[in-house]
Amino acid sequence: MEHLTVVRHPLVQHKLTLMREKDTSTAVFRQLLREISQLLAYEITRELPMTTKTIETPIQTMDAPTLAGRKLALVSILRAGNGLLDGILELVPSARVGFVGLYRDEETLKPVQYYYKAPELLSERLVIAVDPMLATGNSSVAAIDLLKEQGATDIRFLCLLAAPEGVARMKEAHPDVPIVTAAVDTQLDENGYIVPGLGDAGDRMFGTK
Ligand code: URA
Repeated sequence: MEHLTVVRHPLVQHKLTLMREKDTSTAVFRQLLREISQLLAYEITRELPMTTKTIETPIQTMDAPTLAGRKLALVSILRAGNGLLDGILELVPSARVGFVGLYRDEETLKPVQYYYKAPELLSERLVIAVDPMLATGNSSVAAIDLLKEQGATDIRFLCLLAAPEGVARMKEAHPDVPIVTAAVDTQLDENGYIVPGLGDAGDRMFGTK
């Protein structure tokens, strides 16, 4: 896969615009995120290995395409990553799920891990890390560092929106991790928000402030 894939499908772009609008309600925001997560998952799983199996249709026997049984792990970067999980799990219900929790130390400005729980045998799985917003890239890079330390070798990163700064940081730290996103916005502001962006994704999906 390319290092960066921007999914320009009209449905994705239309739903993203609705999510950006500041008056979109929490319930609608959450539903749109679920729908977009499935469209992005469609793209990120495009090259999953396939095999065939022999089946009987009502008409005849055929060798029909089927997934080659590659084990999948979805890893949510807390807390906003959870907004992407359910939709993707509907498409790949057998995927295992992990969680990485990181907060930013206000003195060092470095991400500090407060939670980690992931499926066993990450080395045998395709790992899809999910976080709606790739902003500075600090927490995404740290989460992927952690997944690699735990043995993951085949990792992809799915986000809704990215800033050029975050994409560059990920490319520098993890050039082997393809990113799939719905848009790359203009820049970060002085508080680390994506501009024009959609605000704080966690607050908007959970109705917090
Ligand atoms: N996280 C968010 O939720 N929004 C941003 O714009 C940047 C980081």
